[in-house]
Amino acid sequence: MNKKVAVVSLFSGAGGLDMGFIKEGFHIDVAIELDSIACETYRANHPNTTVINYDVTTLTGETIRELIQNKPIIILGGPPCQSWSIMKSEKDGIGGKRGFDDERGHMILEYVRLCQELQPFAIVFENVENLVTEHESSFKQFRNLLEKSTGLALDYRVLNALDFGTGQSRKRCILVGVKRGIPNPFDFLQRINGPKTLQEALQNVPPSEFFRFKKEDAEVMEMIGEGQCWNVLPPQLAYQKMGKHYRGVCKKCKTKFQGRNSCPKCGSKDIANQKGVLTSYYRRLSWNKYAPTICTVRTTKAWGTLAHPTEQRGLSIREAARLQSFPDEYLFYGNIFEQIRQIGNAVPCNMGQAIAKALKQSFEKMNDALSKKILKKIINQPKYHKLLESEKNFVRGVIKKAKSNQGFSVEERKLLKEIYRKIECSSIK
Ligand SMILES: C[S@@+](CC[C@H](N)C(=O)[O-])C[C@H]1O[C@@H](n2cnc3c(N)ncnc32)[C@H](O)[C@@H]1O
Repeated sequence: MNKKVAVVSLFSGAGGLDMGFIKEGFHIDVAIELDSIACETYRANHPNTTVINYDVTTLTGETIRELIQNKPIIILGGPPCQSWSIMKSEKDGIGGKRGFDDERGHMILEYVRLCQELQPFAIVFENVENLVTEHESSFKQFRNLLEKSTGLALDYRVLNALDFGTGQSRKRCILVGVKRGIPNPFDFLQRINGPKTLQEALQNVPPSEFFRFKKEDAEVMEMIGEGQCWNVLPPQLAYQKMGKHYRGVCKKCKTKFQGRNSCPKCGSKDIANQKGVLTSYYRRLSWNKYAPTICTVRTTKAWGTLAHPTEQRGLSIREAARLQSFPDEYLFYGNIFEQIRQIGNAVPCNMGQAIAKALKQSFEKMNDALSKKILKKIINQPKYHKLLESEKNFVRGVIKKAKSNQGFSVEERKLLKEIYRKIECSSIK
């Protein structure tokens, strides 16, 4: 990618999204991240990027500008999603659906502020699907603000990582903005073939540290087979483990109930576990299915269990990283909990790569359109016949390419510009 363009990454985390861009040849000039350990991870993997361990809210566009001078900018960023997510934070119990009422919800406005201050020519924004589906008016407000403050043409899609060769179902809202005149990058977005099941995704994964079940959970997990969850346990044990989350059905009167070990209607203790609900509790993954969303937590109970299909353990760091399509060599810093937080927070590298590729193709389409205009001007110039024979041959070649709708190479575009300058600046008499 053209080094004349600067890529600024906000809320960079471990660099999942950025890694996708790097794979497509972009260079990330600046990465800004609050968490010092995630910064260590980023630096270790991307030594040529200036990593700023800072709170985005305290940074101005001017400070960032000083680092990249007056290059045109692309901004990437996935602000924290807890306030838009359906998942509550295990630690503080807040998060789920609080939107702009939650301090973290304001981070998307910080994204808008920096876009306004830096005036990029392209942006990529990532967040949870819920932002689009459950916070429609906040999302609209955000898009309006972003559009007004940047003048960019915006579009968004909810994409699933499963379509980008990860072996994981992970739906994310991807919003892309480009300067008006640049074709819509989503028109060029292509799926990536790859693993569709856990087995395919985890083939030859290197060994690494993994999550151990708590002692009291280990016995229960032994009773749960591949692809199964809490609802296969004997009902009284299931109630004991699930507590207020327990969902039962009275065998006598068929009443469905929650958080009790007897029927609230007829008092019967002859109960069965309700099937098909809260299936992520005490769950083992299945080899023959894709993995559920890799998240930042690690317990066997609530908020998404990521237990190994057959072994007495949770997923390992490398397994989780593989499902997020991080290369096996990607380094993660911090203890196992800090590592899984960085991995679970990331945009799968493959999804990032597909977006980067689409963006690149839309830039190329625009550059081709500009080159065609230049070509037209060259051949319509009265001094055209005065060009060197080699130059005319080159022009004939690119005319052929343009007629058959082929794109131009970087060299061809450069040469066209040179010829145009030569002919226009009257260096030919
Ligand atoms: C969803 S994660 C981003 C993941 C990243 N895009 C990736 O693909 O790996 C959000 C990140 O924002 C960081 N963050 C939260 N508040 C921040 C702030 N005020 N300034 C800078 N970074 C912040 C978090 O530490 C977290 O790493």
